[in-house]
Amino acid sequence: MSGRFITFEGGEGSGKSTQIKLLSEYLKAKNKTVVLTREPGGTPVGQELRRLLVTGAADKFDATAEALLYYADRRIHLQQKIWPALAEGAWVLSDRFADSTMAYQAYGHNNRVTPQMLNELYRLVAGDFRPDLTLIFDLNPEIGLKRSLARAAVETVKEVRFENIDIEFHHRLRRGFLEIAGQDPERCVVLNADQPIDKLHQDVIKVVTERLKI
Ligand code: TMP
Repeated sequence: MSGRFITFEGGEGSGKSTQIKLLSEYLKAKNKTVVLTREPGGTPVGQELRRLLVTGAADKFDATAEALLYYADRRIHLQQKIWPALAEGAWVLSDRFADSTMAYQAYGHNNRVTPQMLNELYRLVAGDFRPDLTLIFDLNPEIGLKRSLARAAVETVKEVRFENIDIEFHHRLRRGFLEIAGQDPERCVVLNADQPIDKLHQDVIKVVTERLKI
């Protein structure tokens, strides 16, 4: 595969969706073909799964069912969008990928699905494929949740299934992301998301240019 695959990860309201758009513009200005996508919901079928996953009661299914649905979305996303785009040489930027399942469904839900189970699912769905680079936007969840709920207040479809889970869940998944980064420093870089948009964008560009040699 000749393209590059960069994933953006972090808790609620960490600013990654703003940053992914800014990086996309930056890369396009450098004449790269960019595919901007997200999980869940990067494909038409995925959008149907997204609605199931991010709306409604927090306890409408358990962590195992949730992980399977996220991995179904991921398989469809890889087959229908990510792999074909990479084969054509695009830079694929994804707002969330497999580290979110590890952080939310394993760490967040207190290992009701274990990392081992998720690693097996990953192999089944993605084989040896890995992102070239993963940016982890680290932010105190007290700040992130406030931002995220304020945004949801003005939206018609309220995607707040996870925002409604207690704050300890969000602290656990933050620790999860930091542990994932610590275990895989070749792939992951942690960014301080508690800074102005422009400053954070400069940090993103620095990491991407250094790591992926634009
Ligand atoms: P978003 O709000 O960043 O678009 O993400 C949708 C929600 O889905 C968010 O609350 C995080 C959650 N999520 C998981 O719990 N597991 C996953 O594997 C993914 C991709 C997202």
